[in-house]
Amino acid sequence: MSYKTDFLVIGSGISGLSFALNAAELGTVTIITKKAKVDCATNLAQGGIAAVLSPEDSFDLHIQDTLRSGDGLCNEEVVRMVVKNGPERIAELIRQGISFTYADNDYSRLDLGKEGGHSARRVAHAQDLTGREIEHGLLQQVANNPRITVLENHLAVDLLIASRAGLSRADDDCCLGAYVLDRQDNSISPYQARVTILCTGGVGKVYLYTTNPDIATGDGIAMAYRAGARVANLEFVQFHPTCLYHPKAKNFLISEAVRGEGARLIDRKGRAFMDKYDKRGDLATRDTVARAIDSEMKNSGNECVYLDISHQPADFIKKRFPNIYQTCLSYGIDMTREPIPVVPAAHYMCGGVLTDLMGRTSINNLFSFGETACTGLHGANRLASNSLLEAVVFARQAFLQCRQDWPKLRNSGWPEVPPWSTGKAQKIEECVLISHNWDQIRRLMWNYVGIVRSIKRLTMVRERLELIGRDVKLHFHDFLLTPDLIELRNITLLAQLIVQCALGRHESRGLHYLIDFPKKDDRNWRKDSILKINMKGDSAQ
Ligand code: SIN
Repeated sequence: MSYKTDFLVIGSGISGLSFALNAAELGTVTIITKKAKVDCATNLAQGGIAAVLSPEDSFDLHIQDTLRSGDGLCNEEVVRMVVKNGPERIAELIRQGISFTYADNDYSRLDLGKEGGHSARRVAHAQDLTGREIEHGLLQQVANNPRITVLENHLAVDLLIASRAGLSRADDDCCLGAYVLDRQDNSISPYQARVTILCTGGVGKVYLYTTNPDIATGDGIAMAYRAGARVANLEFVQFHPTCLYHPKAKNFLISEAVRGEGARLIDRKGRAFMDKYDKRGDLATRDTVARAIDSEMKNSGNECVYLDISHQPADFIKKRFPNIYQTCLSYGIDMTREPIPVVPAAHYMCGGVLTDLMGRTSINNLFSFGETACTGLHGANRLASNSLLEAVVFARQAFLQCRQDWPKLRNSGWPEVPPWSTGKAQKIEECVLISHNWDQIRRLMWNYVGIVRSIKRLTMVRERLELIGRDVKLHFHDFLLTPDLIELRNITLLAQLIVQCALGRHESRGLHYLIDFPKKDDRNWRKDSILKINMKGDSAQ
């Protein structure tokens, strides 16, 4: 059986849903999502969406803040385009029914938050549940659109590439869709599409501790890389400085907006420490704050630091941060009266599938945006709350490109594609083979490829990952595929690519801090780290 759709959207976060709502104007859209529709990072986003929305702000300030945070690696043309499109995209979200929080008694003025690295208040939010509000609002629109089909529990295994199916020459290649596993019976079928969109979110599950949801296994980046697309800047993994530290809390984020409203980072003795590290203090950019916390924890031997907003009126805290307040309270922490224990955790991949200004990858008919992509907006360190903005702006750019190409695309026909081949694969009997490798990778990456890195440790991890990679390759051919095995294959590859990029960059910049090369080196390294698979299956820079 081969499924056919005009647009195949892989991922159901803000990027995929925004694109789908636009593209339905042109043709049929199928969104596949590997778990339930709401299992995505968008749903967890607390802070909000940054855009120039007040007379005290300007495009120029937002552009400069983004460039400064990106530490020399942003693509300035992309930054300008995204920032200038921000207000119109927020207006569209409002038209789509998203309820942002307004300033007290004034429904003409959005309440704007502030976060690290921003020189003005510009973060539109829905209290501290912005992502949930956006995700639910867009899903409602999608449900009302008869041209959009959402398939839950469907996991893309690999992209369908014309040259690999013997349907084109390698130098005139294009994407024809993807092979997709249906979790109901683990069967794999080709899903053909005129245009395929990769927006599968990030890679947080490569690390032991992450703010990301369980789906964040780098599937889109891994599939694109295996298909021959260019990927870039994977060494720039953003660690969010303030994840709740509590034995029973799984990855709960304490939004940077809390610092935006005056919270201070303090040590166990109650001493504020950020002024020692940066003149912007608690509102320095994330790379600086996460490194400062790492250094405080290492020097003191303590397991966490604390975030204190208890000096603000209790009513204000409860109204502005209802979700964070209630969640902390459920763990016995009353943030209106006491500091919150916090640690950094893997949060956002700034690199990804390399795209142009329209979200096109290096493979024809394959687009990518959102956390899966490296569009050039974030450079070496993403500015807080620029990610939801990037998602909606690039969803629109990609739609505009598809609309322009549509007369040709709609007549492109449906070539006969080969079915997925299972060869002599057997059902896996011992799942421990998979879970053990998962665990090993996540611990290795956490311990040795975290906030502070060294050549020695990275080299050691590279060797260990090579052994795991060989093991996983054998499993992939010997056993019938399951979601766990598919994800293990992807996190193994992502871990290897992150280490390869990190080992290749001999300087410290943004989120990549290498003790062997502690300084930024603009003369040699003000450039992207670009990887592409070669014919033998190894990667080359
Ligand atoms: C936060 O609320 O701190 C996270 C927002 C972001 O990652 O941009």
